[in-house]
Amino acid sequence: MFRSNPYGMFCMPDISTGRLLLRRMTMKDAQDIFEYSRDPDVARHVLWDAQKHISEAKEYIRYMNRRYRDDLPSSWGIIDRESGRLVGTIGYMDHSENNASVEVGYSLAKWVWGKGYATEALRAVIDYTFETMDVNRIEAQHELDNPASGRVMEKCGMRKEGVLRQRLYNKGKFVDVALYSILREDQRPWKTE
Ligand SMILES: CC(C)(COP(=O)(O)OP(=O)(O)OC[C@H]1O[C@@H](n2cnc3c(N)ncnc32)[C@H](O)[C@@H]1OP(=O)(O)O)[C@@H](O)C(=O)NCCC(=O)NCCS
Repeated sequence: MFRSNPYGMFCMPDISTGRLLLRRMTMKDAQDIFEYSRDPDVARHVLWDAQKHISEAKEYIRYMNRRYRDDLPSSWGIIDRESGRLVGTIGYMDHSENNASVEVGYSLAKWVWGKGYATEALRAVIDYTFETMDVNRIEAQHELDNPASGRVMEKCGMRKEGVLRQRLYNKGKFVDVALYSILREDQRPWKTE
């Protein structure tokens, strides 16, 4: 179903936006990743625990690099072009080849929250996905008590499809999750902004 890309389906090329660069992560990013991933506020609504040691950031980068190599769903580092620092990640959490769908996810350092970075990065990933891959549906989900993430999805033209009750067991409790999607045929309003 997916168009075969000569460089691999998840080849994760560099993507530039107004303020950001999305690129593959390298070992040089370990300190930046550790600095925000140690923050419990960043980890609260994601499926990983706040990091305790920089070795965990290094292990994450090694894991991601194996996924780049094996052409598996993986994430870009989000670089703030002004400072040159890695301030978050965004990418593919899952995919279904038979259904031509992918699931996306993202997280950003607390010091850049509220500047529109997640929206800017997600719009770029949606454009890239529909323009270069045979994907029909992009999904995302957020915990109900993380409404900022739902707002990002809305600003990216994603439509809320419902609430999945106690879908996840995260950080010691069952949590409700809202499911969003955007289809290839849907409007992407920012294209005409
Ligand atoms: C969720 C997250 C990605 C948002 O990133 P961001 O760069 O701050 O997002 P943006 O600035 O693009 O947009 C945030 C929107 O949420 C809104 N918002 C913030 N807090 C909110 C709240 N408590 N309730 C409702 N909306 C909220 C903002 O006002 C903004 O909307 P607006 O432009 O209409 O004003 C970021 O907070 C984060 O990384 N959190 C930790 C990891 C995480 O939760 N990842 C998502 C897992 S599903």
